[in-house]
Amino acid sequence: MTDTALAQPLTLPCGATLGNRLAKAAMTEGLATPAGLPSPQLERLYSLWSDGGAGLLLSGNIIIDGDHLERPGNVVIERRPDAPMAAALASWARAATRRGNHFWGQISHAGRQTQKAVNPRPKAPSAVQLGLPGGQFGQPQAMSQADIAQVVERFAWCAAALREAGFTGVQVHAAHGYLLSQFLSPRSNLRDDDYGGALENRARLLLQTVAAVRAAVGTDFPLAVKLNSADFQKGGFDFHDSLQVARWLEQAGIDLLEISGGTYEQPKLLGVAGLEAEEPQAVRASTRAREAYFVDFAVAMREQLSVPLMVTGGFRSRAAMEQALDSGAAVIGLGRPMCVMTDAPSRLLRGAAQLPRYEDELAMFPPWLAFLNRSDTLRTLGAFGVQYWYYAQLDLLGRDGRAQESLGVFAATRRVMRHARRWLQQRRRLL
Ligand SMILES: Cc1cc2nc3c(=O)[nH]c(=O)nc-3n(C[C@H](O)[C@H](O)[C@H](O)COP(=O)(O)O)c2cc1C
Repeated sequence: MTDTALAQPLTLPCGATLGNRLAKAAMTEGLATPAGLPSPQLERLYSLWSDGGAGLLLSGNIIIDGDHLERPGNVVIERRPDAPMAAALASWARAATRRGNHFWGQISHAGRQTQKAVNPRPKAPSAVQLGLPGGQFGQPQAMSQADIAQVVERFAWCAAALREAGFTGVQVHAAHGYLLSQFLSPRSNLRDDDYGGALENRARLLLQTVAAVRAAVGTDFPLAVKLNSADFQKGGFDFHDSLQVARWLEQAGIDLLEISGGTYEQPKLLGVAGLEAEEPQAVRASTRAREAYFVDFAVAMREQLSVPLMVTGGFRSRAAMEQALDSGAAVIGLGRPMCVMTDAPSRLLRGAAQLPRYEDELAMFPPWLAFLNRSDTLRTLGAFGVQYWYYAQLDLLGRDGRAQESLGVFAATRRVMRHARRWLQQRRRLL
């Protein structure tokens, strides 16, 4: 092990300790059974990651409402678990913690970002449809106050179930344009009740959820939130809002705040340009932000907050990770490199200077067809295709224990779409 700040343990406000500063970021796996239960494939995938050296593994989206999947293949916990669900969750948690690392469940509801194939009329803060070409997302309907109360209750049930099953923490997903993030944004939340309008109201559902989850898991259990530094859209949730929400979350006693950014409409979380121009934010920009997309936001938050911060997005060099720790981040999140190189954290801790940036080599269309990117629909499809390449790697790791770097983007897209269709058909037959 080399002498690196990445190897330092971190004790969180609740008293739990992470073994080092590297976390596998949440990545939706698509490997649940059609009933929404964790599967042996999920266990294989997380055993590999547990062996990979990260102090913390975050699960992909675990969904609290089967009508609002983030994608086909999500783990779904809608109610207090029955015996098969409890056993499957416990088995998953055992596999994912076999090297003594932490394993936290990310809890989520997709809201209007639910695909049409799952639900053509998803519930959302308001009836504002996603502005994406391709017709993949339906026309949402505004939630009633009873719907909102049910969301809070289900987040808490889910968190309690995860603790009971042996997960060592939970994360409330309030970023990337999913339901809680939709409530935060004045573009997707046009409500005129207690949950819309002023930031205090737009943040109410998130803060109620965090309070209910804390009550469900107790004060000695890690509770994290993933929050956008900004949505990077005109008239959207901006950095000023994010800083204020972060202050409220700190007061609510969370243990770790993960900073990301963007939505399906503006996929800044992946460093990908959206169809609209990116809305600049009032934060001092450094050259480091070219590699680590949100590091400047973390630095600006650090000046005002004491809650431990995790920063995710773009990190590939050990130097950038160490610099981020040096300027006040507590944990570094790693996503895409972990889809192929499952032991990336061990390698960094042993002295590796650089992780691969697979996405630089990937494209839906070969260079001689790149003119197709001039069409908004095809360009969006191409961006989804690159994302599907990563989905396919997770699928391969879960099923065969090995990634396949040589897989083409087109073949990966077909594979992921075929699995998704089959999973949905089986789920419909089951329910
Ligand atoms: C295949 C894949 C699946 C993802 N699924 C999730 C998810 O379930 N929840 C989440 O918060 N972010 C998700 N993300 C975003 C990652 O957590 C992370 O923020 C993003 O990949 C940027 O980090 P990176 O540059 O290290 O990949 C996903 C990203 C990828 C590539």
